[in-house]
Amino acid sequence: MIKIENLVKFYGEYQALKGISCTINKGEIVGFLGPNGAGKSTMMRIITGYLPATSGYVHLDEFEVYENPIEVKRRIGYTPENVSLYNEMSVSEYLKFCSMLKGIKNKDRKKRIDETIQLTGLTEYRNRLIGHLSKGYKQRTGIAQAILSDPDVLILDEPTSGLDPNQLIDIRALIKNLAGKRTVILSTHILSEVEEMCERALIIDQGVLIAEDTIEGLKVAMDKEILGANIELKVDGKREKEALQAIREVEGVVQAYEGTRGNIIVEGERGLDIRPIIARHIINKGFNLVELKSLERSLEDVFIYFTDKKKNENKDQE
Ligand SMILES: Nc1ncnc2c1ncn2[C@@H]1O[C@H](COP(=O)(O)OP(=O)(O)O)[C@@H](O)[C@H]1O
Ligand SMILES: [Mg+2]
Repeated sequence: MIKIENLVKFYGEYQALKGISCTINKGEIVGFLGPNGAGKSTMMRIITGYLPATSGYVHLDEFEVYENPIEVKRRIGYTPENVSLYNEMSVSEYLKFCSMLKGIKNKDRKKRIDETIQLTGLTEYRNRLIGHLSKGYKQRTGIAQAILSDPDVLILDEPTSGLDPNQLIDIRALIKNLAGKRTVILSTHILSEVEEMCERALIIDQGVLIAEDTIEGLKVAMDKEILGANIELKVDGKREKEALQAIREVEGVVQAYEGTRGNIIVEGERGLDIRPIIARHIINKGFNLVELKSLERSLEDVFIYFTDKKKNENKDQE
């Protein structure tokens, strides 16, 4: 278990972490979700013992990170945001080099390297120079380095950033596959990534933990207000403009406009599910409704929702 208590980090005058507390359970896959500059990498560097906190504690089981850096590093595998690899080494040479740095015993080295290469899908590339690998395979090599010593905890900082869609699918599958009994913490600014890979998300914004829940929990909390408030619909027979007029008359509609594909986008009042209201109205007015759906929640929706909520809570306390 990882226990983070009131973590504060100042870079000079700038406060990057403003007192974050949370717990990450053994075997859990957790996503640190937040925009650029939120403090995700800072948190990860502190948890892994690469950066001291200004104040606060991080415990990995019985070990405090700052007091027991060696014990902690032995248990954590870490792939930094821009993992530095040696382009002139082959994959297996690099992993051999890492295994020496990590103090893996000579007699275990070959076996660990072979297992790691197999696990990360690098078998065909083991003799290839790292400089000649695609971005996706470089990322695999960075992840391979992190799991070399078979750590209990895996920390991956933006493991999918800069990958093309196919590489992205592969790396996500690899991460899920590696999770198993391990605790995995990954960071991303993409909501769907957390939805797809993680059991729980910690939403961080400007150095503050603004929400912490299972993905289901976050959705339920948001959906109460957001789902059904923003919808997209289509009517038959090129009658969008007329339908738009009709929709604008409906109480609870904040705005409605034409999309680019013959669709109509409607924004309703928060907390109101306008789907049945719009559907009934449009049909009563004699339109042929052919499609109606909620618009996907975007990361922006999530932030707006949770930051607003946080602000209101703070106001209540004043
Ligand atoms: N070494 C540093 N010196 C000064 N400021 C830094 C340093 N590293 C990060 N920061 C600042 O701290 C904030 C959080 O950064 P970071 O943890 O990298 O966020 P994230 O990973 O969520 O994008 C940002 O405003 C960033 O500019
Ligand atoms: Mg970062």
